[in-house]
Amino acid sequence: MLEKLIGDFKDRFGLGEVRTFFAPGRVNLIGEHTDYNGGHVFPCALSFGTYGLVRPRMDKKLRFYSKNFEELGILEVDLENLTYDEGDHWTNYPKGVVKIFKDSGYDLETGFDMLVFGNIPNGAGLSSSASLELLTSVVLKGLYNLDIDMIEMVKMSQKAENEFVGVNCGIMDQFAIGMGEKDRAILLDCNTLEYIYAPVELGDASIIIANTNVRRGLADSKYNERRAECERSLEELQNKLDIKSLGDLSVEEFEENKELIKSEIDRKRARHAVYENQRTIEAVKKLNNGNIQRFGQLMNESHISLRDDYEVTGIELDTMVRLAWSEEGVIGARMTGAGFGGCTVNIVKNKNIDSFVKNIGEKYKNEIGLTADFYVASIGDGARELI
Ligand code: GLA
Repeated sequence: MLEKLIGDFKDRFGLGEVRTFFAPGRVNLIGEHTDYNGGHVFPCALSFGTYGLVRPRMDKKLRFYSKNFEELGILEVDLENLTYDEGDHWTNYPKGVVKIFKDSGYDLETGFDMLVFGNIPNGAGLSSSASLELLTSVVLKGLYNLDIDMIEMVKMSQKAENEFVGVNCGIMDQFAIGMGEKDRAILLDCNTLEYIYAPVELGDASIIIANTNVRRGLADSKYNERRAECERSLEELQNKLDIKSLGDLSVEEFEENKELIKSEIDRKRARHAVYENQRTIEAVKKLNNGNIQRFGQLMNESHISLRDDYEVTGIELDTMVRLAWSEEGVIGARMTGAGFGGCTVNIVKNKNIDSFVKNIGEKYKNEIGLTADFYVASIGDGARELI
């Protein structure tokens, strides 16, 4: 595939040397809507992602071409004039990252040509945008020989998403994509950015991602609403408690003090954040002890909490998960990512994968009228130059 992409690059941008970079997508195993609440997450990088082929230019132009949006042709912008423009489509992501690097004082004097190809299903909640951001970060580090470490690139990529693209996401996606390691998931404390890797050893089972093929339509506005509800809850709790985030609370502390939160809805949101954080910590312990069954149960509990307390699922995700729960060989199933569409993540015994895909595919089609897609997840390394 790389040979082909290099040929495509030369067709568009002319002959000469080309460098190749890659950034994965991510899937979160447990710890949903906890990152911006100062809690823990447990994502991993996937082996599919976004490829970027690049060559430096002598002038100040940035020229972008995507194999996923060939109809857009080559989009060109000026290194000295980087502003968000809806008409610039996907290139707002790399533009945003370049802008943040420049604003942070990194010396980017001349531009580059870049061809991009991604095999992450678009809008499926597997972080194709964060993948593009980290891809751009490693491209910049490589092309300009920048002295910058991965955590810094993760933060700059998140900043590009927050400040340039205007999506108020937490740090989970960029962290998983930057810091991912093959066959391991990352337990990240989003309060301190301390992290440890945990081997994902599932014995005779695999991770199956099921795509509802409903785009996360409502996600952005509801996402900001949930953040606000949690921030309000935190402020009310802080009237009595000395805490910095909802992630500081144990389940017992929350139960003792929850009446401080005035609105019942806010209380439910905070409850999810607190319980989900504790569930995530427990889940990783269970996985490390080889207790996959309990890990799966905690995934199921995570979904129920996201459905009933956090209310970010919706009919398609709930149907996909309910069907999984009644299928033989399923150890755990939940929605993953922001919600309102996108994917579920499932742990399924290897011998049942074929029937899982067939049965759920049929039933989902009958109930929802859409064709689902299924992927066996393989956990890969983080963003890097491919040699
Ligand atoms: C999106 C955001 C992440 C995280 C998840 C929910 O993927 O980008 O920061 O908040 O939703 O867990």
